[in-house]
Amino acid sequence: MFITFEGIDGCGKSTQAKMLFELLNKKENALLTHEPGGWEGGEALRALVLNGSLRHRWSEFFLFMLDRCEHAARVIKPAIDAGKHVICERYHDSTLAYQVWGRQLPYGPVRDAPALASLPVPDVTFLFSIAPEQALSRVSKRGPADAFESKGLAFMKRVDEGYRTLAKTDCARWVVIECGEKTPDEIFECVKSSLRGKGLYL
Ligand code: TYD
Repeated sequence: MFITFEGIDGCGKSTQAKMLFELLNKKENALLTHEPGGWEGGEALRALVLNGSLRHRWSEFFLFMLDRCEHAARVIKPAIDAGKHVICERYHDSTLAYQVWGRQLPYGPVRDAPALASLPVPDVTFLFSIAPEQALSRVSKRGPADAFESKGLAFMKRVDEGYRTLAKTDCARWVVIECGEKTPDEIFECVKSSLRGKGLYL
Protein backbone atom coordinates (compact mmCIF):
# COMPACT_ATOMS: atom_id res chain seq x y z
CA MET A 1 0.00 0.00 0.00
CA PHE A 2 1.15 3.56 -0.77
CA ILE A 3 0.16 5.74 2.20
CA THR A 4 0.72 9.50 2.39
CA PHE A 5 0.61 11.71 5.48
CA GLU A 6 -0.49 15.31 5.10
CA GLY A 7 -1.24 18.36 7.22
CA ILE A 8 -0.03 21.83 8.07
CA ASP A 9 3.38 22.31 9.70
CA GLY A 10 3.24 21.20 13.34
CA CYS A 11 0.23 18.86 12.94
CA GLY A 12 2.13 15.83 14.28
CA LYS A 13 2.33 13.76 11.09
CA SER A 14 6.01 12.82 11.55
CA THR A 15 5.30 11.17 14.90
CA GLN A 16 2.45 9.18 13.36
CA ALA A 17 4.48 8.22 10.29
CA LYS A 18 7.24 6.82 12.52
CA MET A 19 4.74 4.88 14.64
CA LEU A 20 3.16 3.32 11.56
CA PHE A 21 6.52 2.54 10.02
CA GLU A 22 7.69 0.75 13.17
CA LEU A 23 4.53 -1.32 13.22
CA LEU A 24 4.54 -2.23 9.52
CA ASN A 25 8.25 -2.81 9.37
CA LYS A 26 8.13 -5.63 11.92
CA LYS A 27 7.85 -7.81 8.85
CA GLU A 28 10.59 -5.73 7.17
CA ASN A 29 8.36 -4.80 4.29
CA ALA A 30 7.90 -1.07 4.80
CA LEU A 31 9.64 2.10 3.71
CA LEU A 32 9.39 5.48 5.46
CA THR A 33 10.21 8.50 3.31
CA HIS A 34 9.36 12.19 3.01
CA GLU A 35 9.13 15.20 0.71
CA PRO A 36 10.79 17.47 -0.01
CA GLY A 37 14.20 15.82 -0.17
CA GLY A 38 13.57 12.08 0.31
CA TRP A 39 16.16 10.95 -2.24
CA GLU A 40 19.89 11.23 -2.79
CA GLY A 41 20.33 14.79 -4.07
CA GLY A 42 17.00 15.98 -2.70
CA GLU A 43 18.54 17.91 0.19
CA ALA A 44 19.99 20.50 -2.20
CA LEU A 45 16.53 21.16 -3.69
CA ARG A 46 15.01 21.20 -0.24
CA ALA A 47 17.49 23.85 0.93
CA LEU A 48 16.87 25.97 -2.18
CA VAL A 49 13.13 25.99 -1.79
CA LEU A 50 13.00 26.34 2.00
CA ASN A 51 15.37 29.29 2.28
CA GLY A 52 12.77 31.41 0.49
CA SER A 53 14.99 33.15 -2.06
CA LEU A 54 13.21 32.05 -5.27
CA ARG A 55 11.76 34.93 -7.31
CA HIS A 56 9.59 33.52 -10.09
CA ARG A 57 6.03 32.67 -9.02
CA TRP A 58 6.24 29.15 -10.51
CA SER A 59 9.82 28.22 -9.47
CA GLU A 60 8.78 26.67 -6.18
CA PHE A 61 6.17 24.50 -7.91
CA PHE A 62 8.65 23.18 -10.50
CA LEU A 63 11.24 22.43 -7.82
CA PHE A 64 8.74 20.47 -5.75
CA MET A 65 7.72 18.60 -8.92
CA LEU A 66 11.32 17.84 -9.86
CA ASP A 67 11.92 16.60 -6.32
CA ARG A 68 8.76 14.44 -6.50
CA CYS A 69 9.60 12.95 -9.92
CA GLU A 70 13.09 11.87 -8.82
CA HIS A 71 11.79 10.67 -5.47
CA ALA A 72 9.09 8.62 -7.22
CA ALA A 73 11.49 7.14 -9.77
CA ARG A 74 14.33 6.34 -7.37
CA VAL A 75 12.59 5.55 -4.08
CA ILE A 76 8.80 5.21 -4.13
CA LYS A 77 8.18 3.24 -7.34
CA PRO A 78 10.96 0.65 -6.76
CA ALA A 79 9.67 0.04 -3.22
CA ILE A 80 6.06 -0.39 -4.42
CA ASP A 81 7.25 -2.73 -7.18
CA ALA A 82 9.15 -4.76 -4.56
CA GLY A 83 5.87 -5.24 -2.66
CA LYS A 84 6.65 -2.86 0.20
CA HIS A 85 4.28 -0.60 2.07
CA VAL A 86 5.43 2.94 1.41
CA ILE A 87 4.71 5.65 4.00
CA CYS A 88 5.47 9.11 2.64
CA GLU A 89 5.30 12.31 4.69
CA ARG A 90 3.93 14.89 2.24
CA TYR A 91 3.31 14.26 -1.44
CA HIS A 92 1.43 16.04 -4.21
CA ASP A 93 -1.42 17.12 -1.92
CA SER A 94 1.14 19.34 -0.15
CA THR A 95 1.76 21.09 -3.45
CA LEU A 96 -1.97 21.59 -3.95
CA ALA A 97 -2.54 22.86 -0.41
CA TYR A 98 0.59 25.07 -0.13
CA GLN A 99 1.16 26.27 -3.70
CA VAL A 100 -2.49 26.59 -4.79
CA TRP A 101 -4.32 27.60 -1.61
CA GLY A 102 -1.25 29.07 0.12
CA ARG A 103 0.63 30.75 -2.74
CA GLN A 104 -2.41 31.06 -4.99
CA LEU A 105 -1.23 29.31 -8.15
CA PRO A 106 -4.09 28.14 -10.40
CA TYR A 107 -5.67 24.82 -9.39
CA GLY A 108 -6.08 23.05 -12.76
CA PRO A 109 -2.46 22.82 -13.95
CA VAL A 110 -1.18 21.87 -10.49
CA ARG A 111 -3.88 19.20 -10.11
CA ASP A 112 -3.01 17.71 -13.51
CA ALA A 113 0.80 17.60 -13.10
CA PRO A 114 1.08 14.14 -11.43
CA ALA A 115 -0.83 12.43 -14.26
CA LEU A 116 1.38 14.21 -16.81
CA ALA A 117 4.44 12.77 -15.05
CA SER A 118 2.81 9.32 -14.47
CA LEU A 119 3.43 9.57 -10.73
CA PRO A 120 2.12 6.82 -8.44
CA VAL A 121 -1.24 7.65 -6.83
CA PRO A 122 -1.55 7.05 -3.07
CA ASP A 123 -3.98 4.36 -1.92
CA VAL A 124 -4.67 6.21 1.32
CA THR A 125 -3.95 9.79 2.37
CA PHE A 126 -4.26 10.84 6.01
CA LEU A 127 -4.98 14.44 6.90
CA PHE A 128 -3.88 15.22 10.46
CA SER A 129 -6.03 18.17 11.19
CA ILE A 130 -5.37 20.67 13.97
CA ALA A 131 -6.22 24.34 14.42
CA PRO A 132 -3.68 26.55 12.59
CA GLU A 133 -3.21 28.55 15.84
CA GLN A 134 -2.21 25.37 17.72
CA ALA A 135 0.11 24.28 14.88
CA LEU A 136 1.88 27.65 14.76
CA SER A 137 2.45 27.68 18.50
CA ARG A 138 4.08 24.20 18.25
CA VAL A 139 6.22 25.22 15.27
CA SER A 140 7.46 28.39 16.99
CA LYS A 141 8.89 26.21 19.81
CA ARG A 142 10.86 24.03 17.36
CA GLY A 143 13.54 26.58 16.44
CA PRO A 144 14.13 28.94 13.49
CA ALA A 145 11.22 28.96 11.01
CA ASP A 146 11.68 28.09 7.32
CA ALA A 147 10.14 30.05 4.42
CA PHE A 148 6.73 28.39 4.86
CA GLU A 149 6.52 28.37 8.62
CA SER A 150 7.30 32.09 8.75
CA LYS A 151 4.35 32.96 6.44
CA GLY A 152 2.16 33.24 9.52
CA LEU A 153 -1.39 32.47 10.54
CA ALA A 154 -3.26 33.77 7.48
CA PHE A 155 -1.15 31.56 5.19
CA MET A 156 -1.60 28.47 7.39
CA LYS A 157 -5.36 29.07 7.49
CA ARG A 158 -5.46 29.04 3.69
CA VAL A 159 -3.41 25.84 3.56
CA ASP A 160 -5.71 24.26 6.15
CA GLU A 161 -8.75 25.28 4.09
CA GLY A 162 -7.05 23.75 1.02
CA TYR A 163 -6.50 20.43 2.75
CA ARG A 164 -10.10 20.27 3.97
CA THR A 165 -11.40 21.04 0.49
CA LEU A 166 -9.12 18.43 -1.11
CA ALA A 167 -10.18 15.77 1.38
CA LYS A 168 -13.82 16.30 0.36
CA THR A 169 -13.04 15.78 -3.33
CA ASP A 170 -11.98 12.14 -2.92
CA CYS A 171 -13.46 10.51 0.17
CA ALA A 172 -12.32 7.05 -0.95
CA ARG A 173 -8.65 8.05 -0.67
CA TRP A 174 -8.66 10.59 2.18
CA VAL A 175 -9.00 9.90 5.89
CA VAL A 176 -9.35 13.03 8.02
CA ILE A 177 -8.31 12.72 11.66
CA GLU A 178 -9.29 15.63 13.91
CA CYS A 179 -6.28 15.63 16.23
CA GLY A 180 -7.27 18.58 18.50
CA GLU A 181 -6.99 17.30 22.06
CA LYS A 182 -6.09 13.69 21.20
CA THR A 183 -2.82 12.12 22.42
CA PRO A 184 -0.41 10.58 19.86
CA ASP A 185 -1.56 7.10 20.96
CA GLU A 186 -5.21 7.99 20.45
CA ILE A 187 -4.44 9.40 17.00
CA PHE A 188 -2.51 6.26 16.13
CA GLU A 189 -5.54 4.13 17.07
CA CYS A 190 -7.53 6.10 14.47
CA VAL A 191 -4.79 5.50 11.87
CA LYS A 192 -4.77 1.76 12.55
CA SER A 193 -8.52 1.35 12.52
CA SER A 194 -8.80 3.24 9.20
CA LEU A 195 -6.13 1.04 7.63
CA ARG A 196 -7.82 -2.11 8.91
CA GLY A 197 -11.01 -0.82 7.29
CA LYS A 198 -9.07 -0.61 4.02
CA GLY A 199 -7.97 -4.21 4.28
CA LEU A 200 -4.50 -3.82 5.80
CA TYR A 201 -3.75 -6.53 8.33
CA LEU A 202 -2.36 -4.80 11.48
P1 TYD B 1 9.87 20.40 6.15
O1 TYD B 1 10.92 21.07 6.95
O2 TYD B 1 10.17 19.12 5.51
O3 TYD B 1 8.59 20.38 7.05
P2 TYD B 1 7.51 19.33 7.50
O4 TYD B 1 8.16 18.56 8.58
O5 TYD B 1 6.38 20.21 7.96
O6 TYD B 1 7.11 18.49 6.31
O7 TYD B 1 9.43 21.47 5.09
C1 TYD B 1 8.50 21.23 4.20
C2 TYD B 1 7.82 22.54 3.90
O8 TYD B 1 7.63 22.63 2.50
C3 TYD B 1 6.47 22.61 4.57
O9 TYD B 1 6.27 23.89 5.13
C4 TYD B 1 5.51 22.39 3.44
C5 TYD B 1 6.26 22.86 2.23
N1 TYD B 1 5.90 22.12 1.00
C6 TYD B 1 5.25 22.79 -0.02
O10 TYD B 1 4.97 23.99 0.09
N2 TYD B 1 4.92 22.11 -1.15
C7 TYD B 1 5.22 20.80 -1.34
O11 TYD B 1 4.92 20.21 -2.40
C8 TYD B 1 5.92 20.12 -0.27
C9 TYD B 1 6.28 18.68 -0.43
C10 TYD B 1 6.22 20.81 0.87
